[in-house]
Amino acid sequence: METTDRTTDTITGTAPRALGRSGLSVSPLGFGCWAIGGEWQDPDGQPLGWGKVDDEESVRAIHRALDLGVTFFDTADVYGTGHSERVLGRALGKRRDEVVVATKWGNLFDERTRTLYGQDASTEYARTALTASLARLGTDHIDLYQLHLSDAHPERAAELRDLCEEFVREGLVRAYAWSTDDPARAAVFAEGEHCAGVQHAINVLQDAPEMLALCDELNLASINRSPLAMGLLAGKRRARQPLEAGDIRSRPPAWLKGFADGSGADPEWLGRVDALRDVLTSGGRTLAQGALAWLWARSPRTVPIPGFRSVAQAEENAGAIGKGPLTAGQLAEVDRILGR
Ligand SMILES: NC(=O)c1ccc[n+]([C@@H]2O[C@H](COP(=O)([O-])OP(=O)(O)OC[C@H]3O[C@@H](n4cnc5c(N)ncnc54)[C@H](OP(=O)(O)O)[C@@H]3O)[C@@H](O)[C@H]2O)c1
Repeated sequence: METTDRTTDTITGTAPRALGRSGLSVSPLGFGCWAIGGEWQDPDGQPLGWGKVDDEESVRAIHRALDLGVTFFDTADVYGTGHSERVLGRALGKRRDEVVVATKWGNLFDERTRTLYGQDASTEYARTALTASLARLGTDHIDLYQLHLSDAHPERAAELRDLCEEFVREGLVRAYAWSTDDPARAAVFAEGEHCAGVQHAINVLQDAPEMLALCDELNLASINRSPLAMGLLAGKRRARQPLEAGDIRSRPPAWLKGFADGSGADPEWLGRVDALRDVLTSGGRTLAQGALAWLWARSPRTVPIPGFRSVAQAEENAGAIGKGPLTAGQLAEVDRILGR
């Protein structure tokens, strides 16, 4: 149930959202725990984290999120090569059962050297990875277990989906999803009874209408990664502003949009953010809050999971919940401005 009155535009906040057909309900906003994993890299030294982090500040930010009603946290075993899961587990502590914890598997990494060195889509490895994630998170079950290999072969994924059903029967996992931007792949996972959703890229600058249509058709949650376009929609990036050396945005891989050649934020993308500023900052929202409000208005199935590194970001992002979704008129205005 949405809580913005479409007739009067009265803002009364955003209601909790269902995770598809799983029976799990979460705060309309989750917290993405990639950045709090700290620095890690691939064997060629390509940074895969967001630069240095202060673990104590990360823990404080998670505590603040809990106090502000956030009940959904998304991490992955590979973020900071295990570090993000450890920090999240420590921060949740005795409050673990108040929240829905999502993590991911499929990548191979060395915790000692903080290096990603490969992928493994085998069923044997999935069980090994699950056992390790449970230990790092300090829990006996994962609420939402997600396949992190976005381009895995659908036949192999079907085997992994069936294995996830086994994990559910064993009580190790409550529901599962695939992190992929391909609707056809998401549909393969959705054939499983306990598949709750799909994690995919979507933000006000990069819409994903086909994936949202699939979520409607198959009753899946749309878990939104990069909802702030990796910080571009938070409004503090200037054109060509250099990024810290250990930050993935300083040497962006091909899939990372908006930081084209690694010299900082792409001026063309920032121009589009500027054009949207007025509509997104309506209703007393900050730009980041407006970007989240766009996602809630886009579909009742969306659950954005913005990243964070500080208490201030946690407060601003969680503060978006009380301001509710954009209105249908504002959605149309965004499309008009962007020529969609
Ligand atoms: N499945 C996958 O393959 C995949 C891929 C990407 C992400 N994800 C998930 O999605 C989550 C979020 O996506 P994302 O990390 O790509 O990026 P995002 O949420 O679009 O952007 C997050 C970044 O924006 C900045 N930020 C956040 N809140 C802010 C605020 N209130 N004010 C100013 N700046 C703010 C922070 O970076 P700075 O402070 O450094 O600017 C933060 O790390 C991840 O944490 C992860 O859980 C999954």
